[in-house]
Amino acid sequence: MNHRIRKAVFPVAGLGTRFLPATKTVPKEMLPIIDRPLIQYAVDEAIEAGCDTLVFVTNRYKHAVADYFDKAYELEQKLEQAGKLEQLELIRNVLPKGVRAVFVTQAEALGLGHAVLCAKPVIGDEPFAVLLPDDVIWNRGPGALSQMADVAERSGASVLATQSVSREKTSSYGIVAVESFDERQGRVTSIVEKPAPEEAPSTLAVVGRYVLSPRIFPLLEATRPGAGGEIQLTDAISALLTEQEVLAYRFRGTRFDCGTHLGLIEATIRYALDHEKLSEAASRLMQNALDELGVVDAD
Ligand code: UTP
Repeated sequence: MNHRIRKAVFPVAGLGTRFLPATKTVPKEMLPIIDRPLIQYAVDEAIEAGCDTLVFVTNRYKHAVADYFDKAYELEQKLEQAGKLEQLELIRNVLPKGVRAVFVTQAEALGLGHAVLCAKPVIGDEPFAVLLPDDVIWNRGPGALSQMADVAERSGASVLATQSVSREKTSSYGIVAVESFDERQGRVTSIVEKPAPEEAPSTLAVVGRYVLSPRIFPLLEATRPGAGGEIQLTDAISALLTEQEVLAYRFRGTRFDCGTHLGLIEATIRYALDHEKLSEAASRLMQNALDELGVVDAD
């Protein structure tokens, strides 16, 4: 599959229960870091990696995601009339020219693997990316997916984004065993979903970026419900690596798990401190809050 990926899948049909009650009406992917929803960070990363077809796997409650990527004629007109050209640019660039959004429905939340399978009619027979928008990856250089697309293009292999986690956290991730690991990548020899710490084959965890061979689709079709009663992408990848090369890639960048309260807070702090207009004021606010609340470093 030695060519550049063009299509990216965004599975956004999960229930987002960890952010209730907010996610009763606002999809998790629409929660903002400063002024952009989580989904925009993932979309920008996919576009930077060279993708021009974005496939959103949604459910019937997630109109807000489709609305967000739709053209907002009235708002554009009002901003234009008011001379607010900077803001006009911002909303026009939610999806740049030449990039198309396709929406497919996952009628029932049967698991991440099932959500990816729903994108099959749009992807067809070419390698593609999967991005989970609640994993936000901050990097000053090329984005994580762009790094992975380079690796996939050079190797012809499927590529999984990985990072080391502490052993007590293995039960929250897909965990890979890897051979011949050089500085950043190695061949995956096995993968298991959410293993207990004592059963995990390593502490190298898969996070929400994948470049996958289209061979994953028939394997997903044959995958039965696994961990948590869900059709797991991990199980299909486990079948894939008996047929084709799958690489684990340790990306450059910092990943924030914005599907959790602390992850979203951490990401907000990072982006605020790295923001050209907000940085100074944000660090002052943080210092004030720490002083006022008398929070001291536990160390
Ligand atoms: P999560 O495990 O984070 O589940 O899904 P969730 O429902 O989004 O959130 P919580 O755990 O209830 O708070 C990982 C990714 O897979 C998608 C989710 O939208 C998220 O991007 N997903 C999961 C689907 O699209 N469909 C599914 O059936 C399950």
